[in-house]
Amino acid sequence: MTFDFINYPPAIPDLSSRPTAAMRIAGLLSSCAAIGAVCESSRWLARRMAQAAGQTAAPIVELGAGYGSVTGLLPEASVSIERDAKRYAHLKTVFPERTILNSCAIEFLNELQRPTVVISSIPSVNNPEFAALRASVGRVAKAGLVPTLITYTYFPVNPFAGVFPKSEMIGCEVFNLPPAFVWRYSC
Ligand SMILES: C[S@@+](CC[C@H](N)C(=O)[O-])C[C@H]1O[C@@H](n2cnc3c(N)ncnc32)[C@H](O)[C@@H]1O
Repeated sequence: MTFDFINYPPAIPDLSSRPTAAMRIAGLLSSCAAIGAVCESSRWLARRMAQAAGQTAAPIVELGAGYGSVTGLLPEASVSIERDAKRYAHLKTVFPERTILNSCAIEFLNELQRPTVVISSIPSVNNPEFAALRASVGRVAKAGLVPTLITYTYFPVNPFAGVFPKSEMIGCEVFNLPPAFVWRYSC
């Protein structure tokens, strides 16, 4: 029996210049590791984060602004900090009028001088720097410089437990990948 009716390709196609599935997955994983999330915050999570800050006369600083889902919903006078050069460049393009700093959130907190509402998207899990961030937040909170802090996690584990006099999980946003728990802290 012959299989002449099957049209085999004349040669094995050269795929060396095309990304393989493994390369794509590796790219996605490295991007996840850098951003600390499967993808940027959904608009629903961003809205919850921005609303959680409420009306405040104090300045607002956003830590780990990423691609700006939350940034766009914060008051114009807010300051957003993003360390990654690519995301910083993106933020500068999308929000040319806003104050966006290409610096480290921990260093920023260590220099904080006046009471400031903090909105943080910096991950607490799988982030080797989170202990340093937590320590910096602890120092400025103790000095009365952070009246309110808002953040989110992908697990129902309080990332700043014991740091602020008041802490509460104020909701779970299921329209986010993965669903996220939103936390509010205050003095
Ligand atoms: C989960 S992502 C931000 C998600 C963001 N809400 C969005 O929608 O794109 C966390 C971001 O924090 C930034 N980041 C992590 N550690 C940082 C640090 N120490 N200082 C400043 N930015 C940091 C990462 O580069 C990343 O863009």
